This record gives sequence, C-alpha cells and structure tokens, in this order.
Amino acid sequence: MKEPWEMRRASLHDRDALAALCEAAVAPDDYVIDRLEDLILLGVVQIALDGERIVGMMHYAPAIDGSGWLRAARTHPDYQRRGVATALLGSFVGLGARSGVRALRLWSSAANVAGSASANASGFREVARFSRMKRKTVKGSDRGARISFTTELVQEILESPILRRAGGYVPYDRAFIALTPATIHLLANSGALYRVAGGVVVLSPRPEREAETSQDFGLAAGDPAKVLGGIAAARVRGVESVEVYLPFDRSVLDAAARAGFEPESWGQEAVLFERTLDVRPVSYRQRRTYAEIAAGKREGYAALGLLAGKHDHAPGGPHEDRWNR
Ligand SMILES: CC(C)(COP(=O)(O)OP(=O)(O)OC[C@H]1O[C@@H](n2cnc3c(N)ncnc32)[C@H](O)[C@@H]1OP(=O)(O)O)[C@@H](O)C(=O)NCCC(=O)NCCS
Repeated sequence: MKEPWEMRRASLHDRDALAALCEAAVAPDDYVIDRLEDLILLGVVQIALDGERIVGMMHYAPAIDGSGWLRAARTHPDYQRRGVATALLGSFVGLGARSGVRALRLWSSAANVAGSASANASGFREVARFSRMKRKTVKGSDRGARISFTTELVQEILESPILRRAGGYVPYDRAFIALTPATIHLLANSGALYRVAGGVVVLSPRPEREAETSQDFGLAAGDPAKVLGGIAAARVRGVESVEVYLPFDRSVLDAAARAGFEPESWGQEAVLFERTLDVRPVSYRQRRTYAEIAAGKREGYAALGLLAGKHDHAPGGPHEDRWNR
C-alpha cells in the first residue's frame, strides 16, 4: 500500500541533507549534488519527508513553452517502491494544473528501468527519443546569423523533417520544449534562433556566472549533416565545444558522427516523457466585497421596512436615508 508522504518545498538549509540523499540514491559523484543550490533557487525542489528525514526529492522549473520541466528525481534506497516518486510527481501535477501548465515533461535514460517505470506509472508517456552528442568547435567563417520571426520561418520549422524525427520537440535551456508557432515566436524574440548552413538551430542561453565554454543547441530545420558541420565551425563568444540532443535516429546520428560529433558519456538514449494536464479553472472562495456587503445592508434595511409594514420602500430603519434614497 502506498503511504501518504508529507511534502514541502526545500530551502537552502536542506542542501546538505539533499546532497546525502543524492549520494545514497545515485552515487557520491551524482551531478545533481553540485547543482543543488541552483535547483533550490531556480524553480521548486519538492521533498518528501519521513518525520524530519528527507527521503525523496524532485525539481520543477517552468519552460519557455508554458510546460513544466521535471528533473533530479531521487528516492532514498530505504524508501524506494513505496510511492515517494509517485507522490512528488502527483504534487507537481496538482501545482501545474492549478497554474495553467498544460504539460509536464522529463527525460529518463532508456537503460534506467526505475526512472522510466515510475514515469509510466504516473501517467507519463514517451513522446520522443534523443541522443546526446558533442564536439569541439573550430574557427570558421560561418558564425550563423540571428533570425527574426516570420510566418515563413514557422512554416519552414514546422515542416522540417528533422523536427518531425524529434516528435516536434527541441532541447532548450536544460529542458525539452514543443515547437509551436507561439514558441517559435518566443524563441525568435529571445534571440535564440540562428541560421546556420541553411538550417535553423536553437541556441540555449549560457548562464553567465558559470565559466562554461560549451554551448547547448538543438536542430529545428535543415540538413543535419550540413548544419552540424556548420555549427562545429562557428567558434563564437568563447565557445570551445557544442553539445546537442539529436533525434535517436540512425541516419541523423551517422551524419553527426561524420561531422565529428561524439556521443556524450550520458544521455545516449534519452527517452522524453510527457504528461498533459487538464487545466482546471481557478476557483477562489467567494468572499463578499465591501460594496456587496453594503448592498446586502440595503436589502436588509429595505426588508426591515417591509416587515414594519412600509411597502413603499420609504425610509424606515435607522440608516435608511443613507441607503434608500
Ligand atoms: C526512479 C526513482 C526516483 C523512483 O522512486 P520511487 O520512490 O522508488 O518510485 P515509486 O515508489 O513512486 O514507484 C512507482 C512505480 O514506478 C515503478 N517502479 C519504480 N521503481 C521501479 C523499479 N526499480 N523497477 C520496476 N518498476 C519500478 C513501479 O510501477 C512503481 O509502482 P509499484 O511499486 O507499485 O510497482 C528511484 O528509483 C531513484 O531514486 N532512482 C535513482 C535516481 C534515478 O534514476 N532517478 C530518475 C531519473 S529520471
């Protein structure tokens, strides 16, 4: 039987306890440990508790397309298979539905049985598969040009075979987002869309405070072989390497290999899961406004007047002249 887990939002005070949880659930070198402060401050780290003890965690952050991105699911081994991840996912389903989020997404490695099974058990469905590849950049002439929004651009992207192979999703800002006309508009306005070797790439923002020399990107349109070759030759703004999630598709991955890309040590078969949410209309408890209370008083005094036998709505009560003139 699944237990009802107590949950709350984590704060920076929980950092050490969360690091210990990651160490127990994954390994002492779990990449999440170094990012805990960022996760706590940027988005919501929800934790499940057994008394004072933190037994599970999960992170939620809003993505640019209005979806919610989930990551860093960790349940202490002593507490696995007792519904902790299910409860945490459920809390984000509720939060998302109440705040107008239409979909929650996460990815899990195809080899991670527990990760994929727990997503499935909570109503998430596979929508696409990706493979993480990277390569060092070289100095080249094609720096890529920023593109602005046009209806032709929307058509080019939405009809592109590479996007179809990716199920309509691209990686952006550490999440996967669905490319729709609205999202393309937002990305263009954020300066994230570049024309490279005849195709369209989506460049993720690079956090300024991190001394990262690597640029994350995704392919939105164009011939993968040409675009990947082009971006590798675009050493701009101190970018020493480029990293991408490509559709898990033999021909695309072969083209990437020919363009000098190599598989990353993780994310070689990343399954993207999605759960769409029924957005509920927000309902608030109805409290009467002062105007309504005043109107109520009016009715009340008029009623008193009626009770007193005055059927002409003439002033009758103590404050009648104020309300019923
Ligand atoms: C993945 C993880 C967070 C799941 O947490 P959990 O609290 O044990 O999950 P739940 O108890 O809510 O599991 C819900 C359902 O998922 C499925 N499931 C979870 N773990 C499973 C496993 N090891 N094997 C098969 N199915 C599993 C089951 O259907 C389970 O329901 P059941 O126990 O009634 O059969 C946990 O295993 C973990 O911390 N793993 C290490 C870190 C990691 O891989 N994170 C995921 C990154 S996407």
